[in-house]
Amino acid sequence: MDFEEVVRKRRSIRKFRDEIFPEDKVVKALELAILAPNSSNVQTWDFHWVKAPEKKKKLVEACLSQSAARTASHLIVVTADGKAWRRSQKPLVNWVRAVNAPKIVIQYYEKLVPVTYNSGFLNIFAPLKWITFFITGLFRPIMRGPVTNRDISEVAVKSAALACENFVLAITSLGGATCMMEGFDEKRVKSLLNLNCSTRVVMVISVGYEGERGTWGPQFRLPFEQVVHIY
Ligand SMILES: Cc1cc2nc3c(=O)[nH]c(=O)nc-3n(C[C@H](O)[C@H](O)[C@H](O)COP(=O)(O)O)c2cc1C
Repeated sequence: MDFEEVVRKRRSIRKFRDEIFPEDKVVKALELAILAPNSSNVQTWDFHWVKAPEKKKKLVEACLSQSAARTASHLIVVTADGKAWRRSQKPLVNWVRAVNAPKIVIQYYEKLVPVTYNSGFLNIFAPLKWITFFITGLFRPIMRGPVTNRDISEVAVKSAALACENFVLAITSLGGATCMMEGFDEKRVKSLLNLNCSTRVVMVISVGYEGERGTWGPQFRLPFEQVVHIY
Protein backbone atom coordinates (compact mmCIF):
# COMPACT_ATOMS: atom_id res chain seq x y z
CA MET A 1 0.00 0.00 0.00
CA ASP A 2 1.28 3.48 -0.72
CA PHE A 3 1.05 6.16 1.97
CA GLU A 4 -2.21 7.72 0.79
CA GLU A 5 -3.86 4.32 0.59
CA VAL A 6 -2.81 3.52 4.18
CA VAL A 7 -4.07 6.87 5.49
CA ARG A 8 -7.39 6.50 3.67
CA LYS A 9 -7.81 2.87 4.73
CA ARG A 10 -7.26 3.50 8.45
CA ARG A 11 -10.53 3.79 10.31
CA SER A 12 -11.52 3.46 13.94
CA ILE A 13 -12.87 -0.06 14.14
CA ARG A 14 -15.31 -0.80 16.94
CA LYS A 15 -15.90 -4.47 16.13
CA PHE A 16 -13.13 -6.94 15.34
CA ARG A 17 -13.56 -10.49 14.07
CA ASP A 18 -12.47 -13.53 16.11
CA GLU A 19 -9.37 -14.30 14.01
CA ILE A 20 -6.27 -13.29 15.97
CA PHE A 21 -4.05 -10.65 14.40
CA PRO A 22 -0.46 -12.05 14.28
CA GLU A 23 1.82 -11.00 17.14
CA ASP A 24 4.86 -10.56 14.91
CA LYS A 25 2.99 -7.85 13.01
CA VAL A 26 2.20 -6.08 16.29
CA VAL A 27 5.91 -6.18 17.12
CA LYS A 28 6.70 -4.73 13.67
CA ALA A 29 4.16 -1.92 14.21
CA LEU A 30 5.66 -1.17 17.65
CA GLU A 31 9.10 -0.96 16.04
CA LEU A 32 7.69 1.63 13.63
CA ALA A 33 5.80 3.44 16.41
CA ILE A 34 8.99 4.28 18.28
CA LEU A 35 10.41 5.92 15.16
CA ALA A 36 7.91 8.76 15.55
CA PRO A 37 9.25 12.27 15.95
CA ASN A 38 9.29 13.35 19.59
CA SER A 39 10.23 16.33 21.69
CA SER A 40 14.04 16.66 21.87
CA ASN A 41 14.21 12.93 21.13
CA VAL A 42 13.88 12.24 24.88
CA GLN A 43 11.35 9.48 24.12
CA THR A 44 9.19 9.93 27.18
CA TRP A 45 6.77 7.23 26.01
CA ASP A 46 6.11 3.61 26.85
CA PHE A 47 4.04 0.92 25.18
CA HIS A 48 2.43 -1.70 27.39
CA TRP A 49 1.16 -4.71 25.49
CA VAL A 50 -1.21 -6.42 27.87
CA LYS A 51 -1.23 -10.11 26.97
CA ALA A 52 -1.96 -11.97 30.23
CA PRO A 53 -5.66 -13.01 29.92
CA GLU A 54 -6.64 -11.94 33.45
CA LYS A 55 -4.94 -8.54 33.10
CA LYS A 56 -6.42 -8.08 29.61
CA LYS A 57 -9.89 -8.78 30.99
CA LYS A 58 -9.39 -6.11 33.65
CA LEU A 59 -8.08 -3.70 31.03
CA VAL A 60 -11.20 -4.24 28.91
CA GLU A 61 -13.28 -3.39 31.99
CA ALA A 62 -11.14 -0.28 32.58
CA CYS A 63 -11.89 0.64 28.94
CA LEU A 64 -15.54 0.75 30.01
CA SER A 65 -16.04 -2.62 28.29
CA GLN A 66 -16.47 -0.82 24.97
CA SER A 67 -16.70 -3.21 22.03
CA ALA A 68 -13.52 -1.88 20.41
CA ALA A 69 -11.67 -3.19 23.47
CA ARG A 70 -13.81 -6.28 24.12
CA THR A 71 -13.44 -7.73 20.63
CA ALA A 72 -9.78 -6.83 20.01
CA SER A 73 -6.99 -9.38 19.50
CA HIS A 74 -4.50 -7.11 21.25
CA LEU A 75 -4.58 -4.09 23.53
CA ILE A 76 -1.65 -1.69 23.75
CA VAL A 77 -1.58 0.99 26.42
CA VAL A 78 0.50 3.99 25.41
CA THR A 79 1.78 6.12 28.26
CA ALA A 80 3.78 9.33 28.60
CA ASP A 81 5.91 10.35 31.53
CA GLY A 82 7.34 13.86 31.62
CA LYS A 83 10.02 12.62 34.02
CA ALA A 84 11.25 9.87 31.70
CA TRP A 85 13.75 12.25 30.03
CA ARG A 86 16.09 11.11 32.80
CA ARG A 87 16.52 7.67 31.27
CA SER A 88 17.41 9.03 27.82
CA GLN A 89 19.54 12.04 28.71
CA LYS A 90 22.82 10.16 29.21
CA PRO A 91 22.46 7.95 26.11
CA LEU A 92 21.56 11.10 24.12
CA VAL A 93 24.60 12.98 25.40
CA ASN A 94 26.78 10.01 24.44
CA TRP A 95 25.11 9.84 21.04
CA VAL A 96 25.43 13.55 20.17
CA ARG A 97 29.08 13.36 21.18
CA ALA A 98 29.62 10.19 19.12
CA VAL A 99 28.10 11.72 15.98
CA ASN A 100 30.05 14.97 16.47
CA ALA A 101 26.90 17.06 16.68
CA PRO A 102 27.38 20.84 16.87
CA LYS A 103 28.59 22.07 20.27
CA ILE A 104 25.31 23.84 20.90
CA VAL A 105 23.45 20.52 20.56
CA ILE A 106 25.79 18.79 23.01
CA GLN A 107 25.32 21.66 25.46
CA TYR A 108 21.57 21.45 24.96
CA TYR A 109 21.47 17.82 26.02
CA GLU A 110 23.96 18.28 28.84
CA LYS A 111 22.67 21.50 30.36
CA LEU A 112 19.34 22.60 28.96
CA VAL A 113 17.36 19.34 28.87
CA PRO A 114 17.48 18.90 32.68
CA VAL A 115 16.18 22.46 33.08
CA THR A 116 13.57 22.34 30.31
CA TYR A 117 12.06 19.04 31.40
CA ASN A 118 12.12 19.65 35.12
CA SER A 119 10.11 22.17 37.13
CA GLY A 120 11.09 20.68 40.48
CA PHE A 121 9.09 19.24 43.34
CA LEU A 122 5.73 21.05 43.59
CA ASN A 123 6.76 23.19 40.57
CA ILE A 124 9.25 25.09 42.68
CA PHE A 125 11.16 26.32 39.58
CA ALA A 126 8.01 27.29 37.66
CA PRO A 127 7.79 30.97 38.76
CA LEU A 128 11.45 31.49 37.89
CA LYS A 129 10.94 29.89 34.49
CA TRP A 130 7.82 31.96 33.84
CA ILE A 131 9.56 35.24 34.74
CA THR A 132 12.60 34.34 32.60
CA PHE A 133 10.39 33.58 29.59
CA PHE A 134 8.29 36.70 30.16
CA ILE A 135 11.22 39.12 30.46
CA THR A 136 13.21 37.57 27.59
CA GLY A 137 10.04 37.53 25.50
CA LEU A 138 9.80 41.31 25.76
CA PHE A 139 12.94 41.59 23.64
CA ARG A 140 12.94 38.57 21.33
CA PRO A 141 10.87 35.55 20.37
CA ILE A 142 11.24 32.77 22.93
CA MET A 143 9.47 29.51 23.73
CA ARG A 144 7.10 30.28 26.62
CA GLY A 145 7.21 26.83 28.09
CA PRO A 146 7.13 24.26 29.41
CA VAL A 147 6.74 26.06 32.73
CA THR A 148 5.02 23.64 35.10
CA ASN A 149 5.37 19.88 35.45
CA ARG A 150 1.90 19.68 33.91
CA ASP A 151 3.23 21.49 30.81
CA ILE A 152 6.10 18.99 30.66
CA SER A 153 3.58 16.17 30.88
CA GLU A 154 1.68 17.75 27.97
CA VAL A 155 4.86 17.77 25.87
CA ALA A 156 5.29 14.06 26.61
CA VAL A 157 1.66 13.37 25.70
CA LYS A 158 2.04 15.14 22.33
CA SER A 159 5.01 12.95 21.40
CA ALA A 160 3.29 9.77 22.55
CA ALA A 161 0.24 10.64 20.42
CA LEU A 162 2.47 10.84 17.36
CA ALA A 163 3.79 7.37 18.14
CA CYS A 164 0.19 6.18 18.41
CA GLU A 165 -0.47 7.44 14.88
CA ASN A 166 2.65 5.70 13.55
CA PHE A 167 1.44 2.52 15.23
CA VAL A 168 -2.09 2.55 13.82
CA LEU A 169 -0.88 3.40 10.33
CA ALA A 170 1.65 0.57 10.55
CA ILE A 171 -1.01 -1.91 11.63
CA THR A 172 -3.22 -0.73 8.75
CA SER A 173 -0.39 -1.22 6.27
CA LEU A 174 0.06 -4.75 7.65
CA GLY A 175 -3.58 -5.61 6.92
CA GLY A 176 -4.95 -5.06 10.41
CA ALA A 177 -7.33 -2.60 12.00
CA THR A 178 -7.23 -0.48 15.13
CA CYS A 179 -9.16 1.81 17.40
CA MET A 180 -7.50 4.52 19.48
CA MET A 181 -9.36 4.90 22.76
CA GLU A 182 -9.39 7.55 25.44
CA GLY A 183 -12.58 6.13 26.84
CA PHE A 184 -11.00 4.46 29.86
CA ASP A 185 -10.65 4.86 33.59
CA GLU A 186 -7.11 6.21 33.88
CA LYS A 187 -6.84 5.47 37.59
CA ARG A 188 -7.74 1.82 37.04
CA VAL A 189 -5.43 1.45 34.03
CA LYS A 190 -2.55 2.95 36.01
CA SER A 191 -3.11 0.71 38.99
CA LEU A 192 -3.38 -2.36 36.71
CA LEU A 193 0.03 -1.57 35.20
CA ASN A 194 1.62 -0.26 38.41
CA LEU A 195 2.38 3.08 36.82
CA ASN A 196 3.84 5.96 38.81
CA CYS A 197 1.93 9.16 39.47
CA SER A 198 3.79 11.24 36.87
CA THR A 199 2.71 8.86 34.09
CA ARG A 200 -0.25 9.74 31.87
CA VAL A 201 -2.20 7.11 30.00
CA VAL A 202 -2.38 8.66 26.55
CA MET A 203 -4.40 6.04 24.72
CA VAL A 204 -5.33 2.42 24.73
CA ILE A 205 -5.12 1.06 21.19
CA SER A 206 -7.02 -2.02 20.15
CA VAL A 207 -5.77 -4.17 17.30
CA GLY A 208 -7.43 -6.91 15.27
CA TYR A 209 -9.04 -7.69 11.97
CA GLU A 210 -12.05 -5.59 11.05
CA GLY A 211 -15.30 -7.38 11.75
CA GLU A 212 -18.69 -7.04 10.12
CA ARG A 213 -20.01 -3.49 10.52
CA GLY A 214 -16.70 -2.52 12.10
CA THR A 215 -17.36 1.16 11.44
CA TRP A 216 -20.51 3.24 11.81
CA GLY A 217 -20.35 4.34 8.18
CA PRO A 218 -18.19 6.23 5.72
CA GLN A 219 -15.57 8.55 7.13
CA PHE A 220 -16.91 11.98 8.06
CA ARG A 221 -14.78 15.13 8.11
CA LEU A 222 -15.56 18.87 8.13
CA PRO A 223 -14.87 20.54 4.75
CA PHE A 224 -11.19 21.17 3.97
CA GLU A 225 -11.76 24.96 3.65
CA GLN A 226 -13.29 25.12 7.11
CA VAL A 227 -10.29 23.69 8.93
CA VAL A 228 -7.31 24.53 6.70
CA HIS A 229 -6.37 28.20 6.93
CA ILE A 230 -3.96 29.61 4.40
CA TYR A 231 -2.39 32.99 5.09
C1 LIG B 1 -7.53 10.57 21.24
C2 LIG B 1 -8.60 9.71 20.67
C3 LIG B 1 -9.46 9.04 21.52
C4 LIG B 1 -10.47 8.21 21.02
N1 LIG B 1 -11.25 7.49 21.88
C5 LIG B 1 -12.14 6.62 21.38
C6 LIG B 1 -12.86 5.75 22.24
O1 LIG B 1 -12.67 5.73 23.46
N2 LIG B 1 -13.75 4.91 21.70
C7 LIG B 1 -13.99 4.85 20.35
O2 LIG B 1 -14.81 4.06 19.93
N3 LIG B 1 -13.30 5.65 19.50
C8 LIG B 1 -12.37 6.52 19.99
N4 LIG B 1 -11.63 7.29 19.13
C9 LIG B 1 -11.85 7.22 17.70
C10 LIG B 1 -12.55 8.46 17.16
O3 LIG B 1 -13.88 8.48 17.58
C11 LIG B 1 -12.40 8.44 15.64
O4 LIG B 1 -11.04 8.63 15.31
C12 LIG B 1 -13.25 9.52 14.97
O5 LIG B 1 -14.60 9.28 15.18
C13 LIG B 1 -12.99 9.57 13.48
O6 LIG B 1 -13.24 8.32 12.87
P1 LIG B 1 -12.12 7.57 12.02
O7 LIG B 1 -10.97 7.30 12.97
O8 LIG B 1 -12.75 6.27 11.55
O9 LIG B 1 -11.69 8.45 10.92
C14 LIG B 1 -10.62 8.10 19.61
C15 LIG B 1 -9.74 8.76 18.77
C16 LIG B 1 -8.73 9.54 19.27
C17 LIG B 1 -7.74 10.19 18.36
